[in-house]
Amino acid sequence: MKAKTPSESHTILSDLVLPGETNPLNNLFGGELLARMDRAASIAARRHSRRIVVTVSVNHVAFKKAVPLGSVVTIEAKVSRAFKSSMEIVIDVWIEDRESGNRTKANDAIYTFVAVDDMGIPVSVPPIKPETDEEKMHYDAALRRRQLSLVLAKKMKPEEATELKALFTS
Ligand SMILES: CC(C)(COP(=O)(O)OP(=O)(O)OC[C@H]1O[C@@H](n2cnc3c(N)ncnc32)[C@H](O)[C@@H]1OP(=O)(O)O)[C@@H](O)C(=O)NCCC(=O)NCCS
Repeated sequence: MKAKTPSESHTILSDLVLPGETNPLNNLFGGELLARMDRAASIAARRHSRRIVVTVSVNHVAFKKAVPLGSVVTIEAKVSRAFKSSMEIVIDVWIEDRESGNRTKANDAIYTFVAVDDMGIPVSVPPIKPETDEEKMHYDAALRRRQLSLVLAKKMKPEEATELKALFTS
């Protein structure tokens, strides 16, 4: 299968924060943001694989900055690395100042999706060819994140997570 670049899956979703989507402090409810990130990541995974895709794990979410009612929220997602059937998606969340239009990063996350056939059986996806320095950094780290996620899910033995172990021993 021909390799694709992360930019081929780049997905940008902008939307408002409305009253029914906030917590008692009038900030965006965390679960709502998770769902919005899942939607953006799912489009990125679909663009990369051109297959049905399902979320298999949410590896990392950091709610760094509250997102106030009325904000314009922009979610950017792209595939950072593809393995056999699974794809890691890197997600950034931005909020936009109403007057200046300046963007501030509010959150980031890493989701993993699996491409499946009509029966829900995993199928192979194209490899990724990172281009920019940032994409290369995400690509390298994705292997360690995959190993950590699989170890925690009890799908990989810790002693098999070679690259992850090297992080602590080198
Ligand atoms: C995703 C699903 C198809 C995987 O099926 P499976 O029989 O577990 O298949 P495998 O164990 O071969 O895993 C498939 C891929 O997912 C990866 N994977 C599985 N669990 C993972 C985890 N916790 N973290 C990262 N990757 C994971 C595997 O490493 C494998 O990747 P690879 O093909 O690139 O090597 C199946 O678990 C499923 O349908 N889950 C429900 C998905 C869903 O409904 N999501 C929405 C949430 S409500």
